[in-house]
Amino acid sequence: MPIPVILDCDPGTDDALAIFLALASPELSVLAITVAGGNVGLEHTLANALALTALAESTVPVHAGADRPLLGRFTSEPRVHGETGLGGVVLSRGGYATPGVAADVIRQILRESAEPVTLIGIGPATNLALALATEPALTAKVAQIVLMSGAWAEGNMTPAAEFNAISDPEALAILLACGRKVVFATLELTAQALVTPAVIATWQGLGNGQCLQAACDIQATVPPSRRLVGRGAPLHDPCAVAWLIRPELFTARSCSVRMDLGPGPGRGRTLIDRWDRTGDPHNAVVLETLDATGFFDLLGERLAVLP
Ligand code: BDR
Ligand code: CA
Repeated sequence: MPIPVILDCDPGTDDALAIFLALASPELSVLAITVAGGNVGLEHTLANALALTALAESTVPVHAGADRPLLGRFTSEPRVHGETGLGGVVLSRGGYATPGVAADVIRQILRESAEPVTLIGIGPATNLALALATEPALTAKVAQIVLMSGAWAEGNMTPAAEFNAISDPEALAILLACGRKVVFATLELTAQALVTPAVIATWQGLGNGQCLQAACDIQATVPPSRRLVGRGAPLHDPCAVAWLIRPELFTARSCSVRMDLGPGPGRGRTLIDRWDRTGDPHNAVVLETLDATGFFDLLGERLAVLP
């Protein structure tokens, strides 16, 4: 039986491939795609989600959600994703968003689902947190929460914080306190999923579908990471999706995670207690290692079956 999931995203060059991976994978049943502002403003992330799902000829409903965090100022990341979110790659316009605000739709799906639903979050956690904070009893219908978020060492937005985590730290704290374990694909994990020109060339040889081509075009725009001394561009978000499809590609550790919610330079840091120093109850699973070859093979195989 496929795993029922809701995919909450902010496309985003790497979100684009995560969406394709989820839609192409029979192991998952994508019930809805919900969108937040994040990498770029909501007007662009929503348009991108609609264009990407249209390209994949998907009928999965796409819903607009939060355009800002629960508290604080909205920040975006056009240096990595371009002004419109897909690195300047222009896709045909998609359809229209399905009526219903993300948090409401997430609650409705959880309420009506016969089986627990997995929440995948690959953007700021605002939509997921709003859904669970406004009807906490629905957490019982959540199978697990799988996020691309956080880091156990340094961040990529500030020395302390990763982009999704600092984009809405209070929302992430709500998820961590909800009673379901939160699975983290952190920056340390995604640093093992480096896109290089060789990876793109391999994908290009796998077919000539429009999604595969778009994925290659989009990834070709992403600059190699300065943080990773130019070794490649980390393909963050598909890691969270791949964990559900092929968990055997990963090693994972149960541990406790707390958010730094202070106003200082540590704001947005995920305090990941991998060695049980605090003795706090384990509220998270941290993905630690990735079989990168298996991951890129999976991605290529799935991109190649899309239109
Ligand atoms: C995360 O932030 C965004 O820029 C990416 O889409 C990814 O979700 C990586 O820090
Ligand atoms: Ca993202």
